[in-house]
Amino acid sequence: MKNLKNNNGKIGIFDSGLGGLTILKEIIKLMPNREYLYLGDNLRAPYGEKTQAEIFKYTLAGVEWLFGRGAEIIILACNTASANALQKIQQEILPFKYKNKRVLGIIIPTIENIDNFSKFGHIGVLATKATVASGVFEKEAKKYCPKIQIISQSGERLAEMIELNKNEKDLKAEIKKVVEQLIAQDEFMDTVILGCTHYALIENQIKKALPKNISIIGQGEIVAVKLFDYLNRHSEICQKLSTKCSTYFYTTSSDGKAKELMTQFYGAKISIETVVCEATQKTMYN
Ligand code: DGL
Repeated sequence: MKNLKNNNGKIGIFDSGLGGLTILKEIIKLMPNREYLYLGDNLRAPYGEKTQAEIFKYTLAGVEWLFGRGAEIIILACNTASANALQKIQQEILPFKYKNKRVLGIIIPTIENIDNFSKFGHIGVLATKATVASGVFEKEAKKYCPKIQIISQSGERLAEMIELNKNEKDLKAEIKKVVEQLIAQDEFMDTVILGCTHYALIENQIKKALPKNISIIGQGEIVAVKLFDYLNRHSEICQKLSTKCSTYFYTTSSDGKAKELMTQFYGAKISIETVVCEATQKTMYN
């Protein structure tokens, strides 16, 4: 007989801060009848300037916290964490501590669709310094579609500026600078992937700074469809998930500003709890 008590599992969504909200919104749109936990590590954002060891440590802390709150499956709605922590978590933590739980990233789902993005096959990726340094977009694109050329550009201070709610004028100047650096790298580029979920929050401003012939690809919808598909294929996870329709928001920051921005970017009245999410896991990276 089916164990009815066991279907209260949550879907955890983790980001360094605000960017993951763009992924969460699309996932909820597609699968409203699920229970979600959103955790933003706003206290330690941005991750893009940190070392791989730090990104791993903080991401793992977030993942373990979400598991502790009942997440069965977690989406790292953060490219920086997907590029710098996901593989180690999947290979070195899950099999030993959380055998039946899952952590998925957002870079491979994006790359799996890469064939459909560009006419000329020259694709720009705007991402954080740590994502660009990892070379993951290039490596994965080579596997899925070797003909495609990836041109990466760090968004420099953009994620930090979004977290700090910098004024329009400063943000516009920074966007202009990074967009110019990106397009100067390849005259045939016809597509730009927003390879940092924070950038999806300023998609319109980035669009304005780009030449008209270059189209923008965001990750929200792509990731939502891939998760939907994943859950359809993995009944062992799906059957553990709650069908209650609710979302709980958490931040590691006690600053009221972070909560205000979370509410603003989510676009609805939400209650957000500040939580302590210590990186206690002893690993060789500590
Ligand atoms: N939102 C994150 C990403 O997708 C990282 C932003 C940051 O913390 O630097 O890469």
